[in-house]
Amino acid sequence: MNSFHYYLPVKVHFGIGSLGNIGDEAITMGKRAVIVCGKKSMKENGAIDQLIHLLEEKGVEWILWDGVNPEPEVEVLNQALLQIKDEKVDLVIGIGGGSTLDLGKALALLAEYPDKAEVYFGSQGVQKLNKPGIPYIAIPTTAGTGSEVTNNSVFINASTGLKQSIASPFMFPKAAIIDPDLTKGVPPKVTAASGMDALTHGIESYLSRGANDITKTLAYQSIKLISRSLKRAYDHPGDMEARADMAEGSLMAGMAFGNSGLGIAHGISHPLGYHFHIPHGVANAMLLPKALKFNREVAKIEIATLYECFFAENKANYSMELKVDAVISHVEELARQLNIPQSLETLGVKKAAFEQIALESFSSRSIKYNKREATVQDVMEILEEIY
Ligand SMILES: [Fe+2]
Repeated sequence: MNSFHYYLPVKVHFGIGSLGNIGDEAITMGKRAVIVCGKKSMKENGAIDQLIHLLEEKGVEWILWDGVNPEPEVEVLNQALLQIKDEKVDLVIGIGGGSTLDLGKALALLAEYPDKAEVYFGSQGVQKLNKPGIPYIAIPTTAGTGSEVTNNSVFINASTGLKQSIASPFMFPKAAIIDPDLTKGVPPKVTAASGMDALTHGIESYLSRGANDITKTLAYQSIKLISRSLKRAYDHPGDMEARADMAEGSLMAGMAFGNSGLGIAHGISHPLGYHFHIPHGVANAMLLPKALKFNREVAKIEIATLYECFFAENKANYSMELKVDAVISHVEELARQLNIPQSLETLGVKKAAFEQIALESFSSRSIKYNKREATVQDVMEILEEIY
């Protein structure tokens, strides 16, 4: 008989035009908000102006903090913390891609804590983060990370040289507003990488040791939505049906993996990203087919079930082996069609770094959730395969 836990205390608004809910949500949570965003795109396309207008309409005061850069170091978070503690804000609103949403999330929680952010890294940090911060509203502008519904945020810890997580049950956003309209200006390269990240979330969650019936249902539907619309959104950035599928798929994948955990592809993609600046989604896209091959003997039924998500026609006469083969080559082919690089060598990775990357893969939580137990040697072999 089944027995599991599932926890997701985030109010979700989804749909084109759903940004319009921000004023009503914000005013119930605070009077003075800090808007966390990146330096450019959301300002240039008018989304920040729209957000400010909607807040002012409801009488919410605001300040802007636009210091987010891709893959932020923890020091950036410390600087933001110092500034907002002076400004006496009582609400954080993050609008942007994964790094921005992660930074906003940590900022809102640590605003109520005395120490520098480094103190809260890792599992000891989880124990220390035992009370709520100030409320946080997350507004994603890419379809990929699922950060709007998860309770951790990733930073580069300059003192250890690792990408590390700050996580807590108190770190969930209070609300997430997923408006696919905000993703239509995302360039194809980013659509491809973030979309493959979302697909990897869905698939790794479905296969994870931590999966349960709820996470599997969410993951399955996310894979279906992403599989039917990722290439379309890449080819036709203004296709709002495809954008909506991607935004919903990414959201549902986040709702799944936040509870189930991920797998070996995510374990390896973090050190690859940190040491060689390979975008997270690109690393995952390269690793995903290899992760499926690595898991196939222990996850044959699950992978064969996913056949239905990728192929409309029902091949009832196909054997399980044929379905597994078809899923793996389809995922590989999709990355190729999205013009995602296929080899580590072309991205400047040196073979001499393989051992260190492999060792560091085991410092993430993701690899512990991989269906088949992996060794350092296994990771080295996977790296060799994508070299
Ligand atoms: Fe990811």
